[in-house]
Amino acid sequence: MTDLWIQPTGAALAADVHGVDLSKPMDDATFAKIADAWGKHLVLRFSGQKLDDPTLMKFSARFGELDRVPISAANHDRKDSGVAAEAIDWVAVIASVKKDGKAVGGLGSYELVWHTDMSYNPLPPRASLLYALEVPPDSGNTGFLNMYAAYETLSDELKRAVEGKTCIHDSSRNSAGELRRGFQTTLDVTKTPGAVHPLVRLHPVTRRKALFLGRRPGAYIHGLSIEESERLLNAIWAHATQERFAWYQKWRIGDLVMWDNRCVMHRRDAFDESLRRLMHRTQIVGEPVLAA
Ligand code: OGA
Ligand code: MN
Repeated sequence: MTDLWIQPTGAALAADVHGVDLSKPMDDATFAKIADAWGKHLVLRFSGQKLDDPTLMKFSARFGELDRVPISAANHDRKDSGVAAEAIDWVAVIASVKKDGKAVGGLGSYELVWHTDMSYNPLPPRASLLYALEVPPDSGNTGFLNMYAAYETLSDELKRAVEGKTCIHDSSRNSAGELRRGFQTTLDVTKTPGAVHPLVRLHPVTRRKALFLGRRPGAYIHGLSIEESERLLNAIWAHATQERFAWYQKWRIGDLVMWDNRCVMHRRDAFDESLRRLMHRTQIVGEPVLAA
């Protein structure tokens, strides 16, 4: 047994996990403590780690089946990405870094707006794990939102308004708001392409209710007129994205941050594109979304 201890950030979510070296084999008791802390704090940070790709994959896989690298993230040459050969299908690169003028990873240096990863799919991922290899000083911070708290603090009126409702999660745009290849701008939100999910979701492990929002553009709540849907979406987004539900990760080299994509949204500040930021990332396959 290691001398593992959990230090909550004191914000609405997230905790540091101290006293564990993720490059070493981990016994089941230690893992159980980490899984328990993840359920309580939604986002975990492990600092000062030294992880190669196979080790990142091995630790990630304890939380469930590894997801393949999304095709949309592969708009750069994966062979030049610096990912270990055996990890090429399982470790994505998030990077501003360029090699011979070409990006070695996805998502550049621009702002990423609040989002849930890949919720435009019927089975959105359970979790993402992001490991920092190179970081710019004091920029490119990543924010996280506690969507249980966002749900629980809704006014009675808004709680009633979202109850039993479903929402379209737009698959045509990425988290920078850019149109994906092969998609067209949809002006009529009732025709937005993408998965339909309950607005209030039941977490399969904690059994707590969370507000389930994907991305604001293109969203539409079924059963409402477009005006009513826009008004309700604006109200719940304004509520959910308050600073009191947020915590910001200021990256240091060797940080591994994992979030529960079933009850957490995240965003990233833009940073100077000349600065080097390089992350390796795994994702865990999700389960069917349960309506609350
Ligand atoms: C992601 C993401 C945020 C960041 O990897 O899904 O949103 O800080 N990244 O790069
Ligand atoms: Mn993301």
